[in-house]
Amino acid sequence: MLRNGKFRIAAILLLLLIKATVHSQVPKNKGINHRDKEKIDNLLKTMTLDEKIGQLSLFRSGWDVTGPIINVNDKKLIGEGKAGAILNAYTVDYVHDLQQLAIEKSRLKIPMLFGYDVIHGHRTIFPIPLGQSCTWDLKIIEDAERIAATEATAEGINWTFSPMVDISRDPRWGRVAEGAGEDTWLGCKIAEARVKGFQGNDLKANNTLLACAKHFAAYGAPQAGRDYNTVDMSQLSLYEWFLPPYKSCVDIGVGSMMTSFNEIAGIPSTCNTWLLEDLLRKEWGFNGFVVTDWTAINELVSHGIAEDNKDAARLSLNAGVDMDMVGNTFLDYLPELLKEKKVALTRIDEAVRSILEAKALLGLFDDPYRYCNKTRQEQEIMTPGQLALARKMVSESCVLLKNPDHILPIPGKVKTIAIIGPLGDSKTDMLGNWYAAGQWEKCITLLEGIKNRTGEHMKVLYEKGCNTNDSDRSGFDAALKLAARADYIILALGENGWMSGEAASRSNIDLPGVQNDLAETIVKTGKPVAVILFNGRPLVIARLNNLPVAILETWFGGTQAGNGIADVLFGEVSPAAKLTMTFPRNEGQIPVFYNGKNTGRPFNLNDRDAKYVSRYLDCPNDPLFPFGYGLSYTSFAYSNLETNVDTRNIAVTVQVANSGNCDGEEVVQLYIRDNVGSITRPVKELKGFQKVLIKKGETKTIAFNITTDDLAFYHPDLKKYWEPGEFTVYVGTNSAETLSKSITVK
Ligand code: NOJ
Repeated sequence: MLRNGKFRIAAILLLLLIKATVHSQVPKNKGINHRDKEKIDNLLKTMTLDEKIGQLSLFRSGWDVTGPIINVNDKKLIGEGKAGAILNAYTVDYVHDLQQLAIEKSRLKIPMLFGYDVIHGHRTIFPIPLGQSCTWDLKIIEDAERIAATEATAEGINWTFSPMVDISRDPRWGRVAEGAGEDTWLGCKIAEARVKGFQGNDLKANNTLLACAKHFAAYGAPQAGRDYNTVDMSQLSLYEWFLPPYKSCVDIGVGSMMTSFNEIAGIPSTCNTWLLEDLLRKEWGFNGFVVTDWTAINELVSHGIAEDNKDAARLSLNAGVDMDMVGNTFLDYLPELLKEKKVALTRIDEAVRSILEAKALLGLFDDPYRYCNKTRQEQEIMTPGQLALARKMVSESCVLLKNPDHILPIPGKVKTIAIIGPLGDSKTDMLGNWYAAGQWEKCITLLEGIKNRTGEHMKVLYEKGCNTNDSDRSGFDAALKLAARADYIILALGENGWMSGEAASRSNIDLPGVQNDLAETIVKTGKPVAVILFNGRPLVIARLNNLPVAILETWFGGTQAGNGIADVLFGEVSPAAKLTMTFPRNEGQIPVFYNGKNTGRPFNLNDRDAKYVSRYLDCPNDPLFPFGYGLSYTSFAYSNLETNVDTRNIAVTVQVANSGNCDGEEVVQLYIRDNVGSITRPVKELKGFQKVLIKKGETKTIAFNITTDDLAFYHPDLKKYWEPGEFTVYVGTNSAETLSKSITVK
């Protein structure tokens, strides 16, 4: 039939119509009311080119000892209506003054956006995002973002460059500290919780702000774990493992998206039309605005894809970027580019519209000062309730990696505790990296947290022993002397706050400096030793792990670090956190993650010496601590895994008994494996979890329900669907220790 020309044309037209309908199903002005739409339409008709370009340029403010400051010229531009958004400006008076310039001096009185990095809290700083993800508690993550939004908006901020939802499998990359770990499924759930926490149900409320998902896309997969490095991977991997968290943010209505610094398959994200237009806007229906990362447009020149900044501005705007973060390229070159017809006014208008729409969604046209409320600034920051949640989150994020002879919790009979180590009393390190307006002076250190709990009946002593990252051993003697006076030792070791985060990749991720030597020296005293680790990434801790010590991973806990950790150390809270990123045995194993493939020559534990299999000669394949791992003060026994497949639904139950000596929470994890697929599938994929409190001696039946949708995966044609056949269901305490059962799904 299609050979007939008329029918062929009709069929093509029909296809185009279906395609267009699919795209237009996403309302372009979702949430914009009629009045705001009219206002924006009118503004677009009235604005000069300079005023439009001002909206597309993100200017920066700085912070001086005396308070926030801004460049005189940028201030002038605000008054002239040629600046639409400022980064790093906060505190009510300051923001109010800048907003007032825009509203009272500028011709069109367009209010400004005030954007800031609210990464793990604003004033009340919560554990670093990687630590938060180890709570496996979506509610507390959302609640923490709610608090972060409340505090940030109380100081004038209405837009945050958060959440970072980059999946990463490489702990050498310092920015794993800002993410939710290696798993895509969990990463999506956490991404949603964060956006919900920031944006709430009503963006117009004065305590919600516009979120910005970042860094689009695949910034977490730089080659060799080196920040800003090239990303190159198959389309399938991109779709299956790296893109979903950004998509989850879009699906839940994130208001803005930030491009990443990296390239993907030869095209930097900041000028990637496929990424920004075809995928983000057309396929996913994103209707917010796209901002670049810091000077990412200018960097297109170094990438070798733009001749100069002008060319970079052209590529970027045409690819779908709406706002240039501090690079001034739109400001400097869009007028010329427009004259030369290298960019279209319609594209500029489209970008301006998306930014004005965000302002309308925030209610800024109705009240530009809605985030400038001094009473809120005085009353809604670092309240007892906010600090209590931060403290709870610290204790929920501590992962117990090892606990021989029940060294932890600290027994009540202990008389003198010696805290030794560079991170034992370091306020400046507790916030980790990238802590926004957090004030280190207000942090509770480990020493303070322990003292707060022990009161008079326990003596608590402290010695630094060494620095985090140099070769000075001169403090060892004093540390040993102190250890001799104590009957229990706490070693506070790890990275300093700036060894993770942006531009903080490391090729050797062992404990830096002489900290391993310090630990080995102290352990020789024969006294019980608990190591408290502070760090922003999984570390290689093979040496430490060989010692007969307890190890508690605490990340960087933020404002309440010391108090929250002390709650765990003294048994007030039994640790229940589980790793969301694998701890390798050595750097040579990287990338090592739980959801790899089996290969054609898998290593078999029962035939350890086999030669021609996928293995190392000098190291086992399995990591030191797998994804999902974390101990408790009690123990849990899993039994009676049952499955029931009923057409599209798969019901799974398991019994979990608290077989230890105290009440405790357990994160029960459900994984599946698609045993035979039309393309190879990972050996395990997380598909569900439940965090449950199980009392001492109690047994709970934990039930999961998944559907065939959960079995779907991307195929070479980039379509996502499931394939009938044999699957293995695993349920357990971590990704490596599970019960399993085969099922057939037809
Ligand atoms: C660069 C970082 O990559 C990005 O995450 C951050 O939001 C911006 N700087 C603004 O500070």
